[in-house]
Amino acid sequence: MKPSLDALLPDADRIAADLRELERFVQPDAPGWSREVFSDPYRAERDWVAGRMRAAHLETNIDAAGNVIGRLVGTQPGPPLVTGSHTDTVHGGGRFDGVVGVLGAIEAARRLRETGTRLNHDLLIIDFLGEEANAFGASCIGSRAISGLLETVHLSRKDPTGMTLGDTMKNFGTDPNGALALARRPGSMHAYVELHIEQGPMLEERGTSIGVVTAIAGIERLLATFTGRADHAGTRPMSQRQDALVAAAEAVLTVERVGCGAPVHGVTTTGRLETSPGAYNVIPDYARIWAEMRSVDVSWLTGAKQRLAEQIAAAAAERGVHTMIEWLNDQSPVHTTRSVQDTIGLAADALGIPWVPMPSGAGHDAAHMAHLGPMGMIFIPSSDGRSHCPEEWTDLEHIVTGIHTLAVTLVKLDQMETVQTDSVQSVPRS
Ligand code: HGY
Ligand code: MN
Ligand code: MN
Repeated sequence: MKPSLDALLPDADRIAADLRELERFVQPDAPGWSREVFSDPYRAERDWVAGRMRAAHLETNIDAAGNVIGRLVGTQPGPPLVTGSHTDTVHGGGRFDGVVGVLGAIEAARRLRETGTRLNHDLLIIDFLGEEANAFGASCIGSRAISGLLETVHLSRKDPTGMTLGDTMKNFGTDPNGALALARRPGSMHAYVELHIEQGPMLEERGTSIGVVTAIAGIERLLATFTGRADHAGTRPMSQRQDALVAAAEAVLTVERVGCGAPVHGVTTTGRLETSPGAYNVIPDYARIWAEMRSVDVSWLTGAKQRLAEQIAAAAAERGVHTMIEWLNDQSPVHTTRSVQDTIGLAADALGIPWVPMPSGAGHDAAHMAHLGPMGMIFIPSSDGRSHCPEEWTDLEHIVTGIHTLAVTLVKLDQMETVQTDSVQSVPRS
């Protein structure tokens, strides 16, 4: 049945109530709206999400990787339509990153049922486990498992306490070895669409309600260790020092300079610096920095990675400081599928909603789900472009518009016999 597109309009009050309910699940001793992966509030919150899926009459289960999956049964067998996002946060995070895509998908499923709109394909709604970067250096745990990209090397990664990701997953109640066996094969998904806040300033600055994502940035993460020589801060002449902290500080500026030199879309960030012994009167002999680089342009990313490593090591060597750099590739740049981009644009057009094509500087589960079939993302504006902080905010009217666009996009994709994939990587529109 083809519904009137307006009939799929989400229930704003119900969405607002769900958002208020979900934001109760936070770590009491952490800033902002923290609900970090494997935390107790995260565990409780996923039970609540599973309850909301059941209340929406979705067949609900939790897979071995801890993904919470609700299914709206279609009229025909075959590869499912998939949507969803994540509900874990960064430390000190906000209330909308990921959450909008999970609660929005549940609301879209409710509106499909309430309007009697039967889809041909099953619709799977997934709250993926652990999308955010974590102490194990392995983000997107749940979507990697489903797309066959979770490997034993991830499970054996240790956090600063020495716990492995595998043991931590077991303690949380998931089955890490079972997670490795969850991999679905490429082509096993009719299409995937994820609704997400933009987490940047572009849509709000343009006054546009919907972003149609063209590509998701690749992320390269590094841990650089600097080893110098401890000395008395009062007696060692400036020209004879091997100061690990100064070498690390110089590297932080090098990271920034490389990002500023990106021709298209490229950003670099140093998120953390550690040094020891940390005393006023001792020249530091040890320092570490955690940094990352992102771009939708794979050739820039590859070249910049090489340049950054060389420049950091050369500058430190001039100071008699030794450098060791460990790279933790998080993900390569992923283009969204042209036909899904077009379908999102047609859905927004049909609803009279202005939209613009744009890249995503943020990483998403969608980047991994792209291995299973055609993939697209819908962005809605972030107030003042803020995200990954307590000030993160998106107006309810934008959330409603985003969910409405998601629902209509799902209906349009469902009506396609097959969703065309890109034989070659489509070049992003902008
Ligand atoms: O880091 C990211 O881009 C995402 O928010 N996990
Ligand atoms: Mn996110
Ligand atoms: Mn995030």
